[in-house]
Amino acid sequence: MRTQVAIIGAGPAGLFLALLLREAGIDALVLERQTQDYVQGRVRAGVLEQVAVELMDRLGIGARMHREGLIHTGTNLAVDGEVFHINFAKLTGGQTIMVYGQSEVMKDLNDAIAARDVKVIYEATDVAPQALDTVDPFVTWCENGVAKRVDCDFVVGCDGYHGVARSCIPASILKTFERVYPFGWLGILADVPPCEEELIYANHERGFALASMRSPTRSRYYVQCALSEKIEEWPDDRIWDEICTRLGPEAAAKVTRGPSFEKSIAPLRSFVTEPMRWGHLFLAGDAAHIVPPTGAKGLNLAVSDVIFLSEALAEYYENGSQAALDNYSTRALARVWKAERFSWWFTGLTHRFPNTEPFDRKMQVAELEYIRSSRAAQATLAENYVGLPLRPN
Ligand code: PHB
Repeated sequence: MRTQVAIIGAGPAGLFLALLLREAGIDALVLERQTQDYVQGRVRAGVLEQVAVELMDRLGIGARMHREGLIHTGTNLAVDGEVFHINFAKLTGGQTIMVYGQSEVMKDLNDAIAARDVKVIYEATDVAPQALDTVDPFVTWCENGVAKRVDCDFVVGCDGYHGVARSCIPASILKTFERVYPFGWLGILADVPPCEEELIYANHERGFALASMRSPTRSRYYVQCALSEKIEEWPDDRIWDEICTRLGPEAAAKVTRGPSFEKSIAPLRSFVTEPMRWGHLFLAGDAAHIVPPTGAKGLNLAVSDVIFLSEALAEYYENGSQAALDNYSTRALARVWKAERFSWWFTGLTHRFPNTEPFDRKMQVAELEYIRSSRAAQATLAENYVGLPLRPN
C-alpha cells in the first residue's frame, strides 16, 4: 500500500487534517486504534472558536452546527457567588464563540469522511511509524490479526497524549514542558435546561465550578475536586448541592436538577512538546500539547495545528517547497504557547490551590474584581477566549 500522508488517530485533529488534505487533492490514510463509536462518543469540551467554526464551513460540514449550535456573545464569571458578565462581541469587534459539543463535531467529521471516501482503518493495533528520519517512511500495524504496511511521504501523529507518535522522536531531540495541577474536574451531563444563557466560571472559597451546556435542554456542569476522590463519593445530590453553593444564590435559584447520565473525573495538565516535527514525522493536537480545560482551548488548538500543517503540505505538493514544512513547528508553537498561557492563567485565577495562604486567594479575588471593573482587563480575557488570530501581525 502507498499513500502520501499517513495520519495516526481519527479524533478531531486526524479527521480535520484528512478532510483538508482531501480538499487539496493530497492522498491520506487514517489509522485508529479504537472503534469509531468509541472515538465519536468521548465526552470533551464544547466551545468552538471562530477559527474552528470557519473551518467547519470551509469544509462544507457546518450546516448542522449552525442549526443546533448556540452562539454565545460572552461569558459570566462569578466570585464568591456574585456573577458578572463579559461581552466578548463588544470587546473584540463582534467576535463570538459557538457552543457545540466535540461529539457533534466528530459526527459531522465522520459523515464527511464517509461521503468523501477518505480511508480510515479502525481497530488498527500495534501501529508503528518507522524510518521517519529517511525519505521513505512507512507505518506498520495489525488489522484483524494480519500484519499491514503503508509506505508514505509523511506521517502525522494525531494520536493524542498517550499516542505512539511522540515517542518516536528521540529523547535527545524532544523537549517537554509540563505543569500538573493538584486537583481534577468532576463533570456531569444531565438533560435539564442550563441555569444561564451563557457559561459561568465560578471562583468560590470551596473551589471552582463551571456551568456549561450542550443545548437548551442539556447541561454540562463541573466542580473542582481532589484527585483522590472517587465517583462513588459523589452521588448526584451532593454534586448539585456543591454546584449551587459555588455558583452562588442568584444562579443557584435558576439551576434545574435532574439525574446525570455521564459522570467522570478528569485531571488537569499543561503540557507542550518541542519541536512538533522530526524528520518526516509531524505532531498535531493533543499528541503535542495538552491544556487544562479552563478556557476550552484543546480542540481549537488541534484545529489551528492542522490548518498550518495542511497549508504546508499543500505548498510542498504544489511546488516542491519545503519552507512551510520547515516552519510548521515554529508557527504552530507560537499559537500553542499563547493558548497555554491563557489556560494556565485562567486556571490559576479560578481554582482553589491546596496549601496556599489566605493572601493567594485575596490576590485571586482582587484580580477578578479588577476584571469586573476594567474594560482593558476584560478585553484581554475576551480576545484570548474567542481565539487569537491564525496570522498575527
Ligand atoms: C464544556 O462545556 O464541557 C466546557 C466548556 C468550557 C470549558 C470547559 C468545558 O472551559
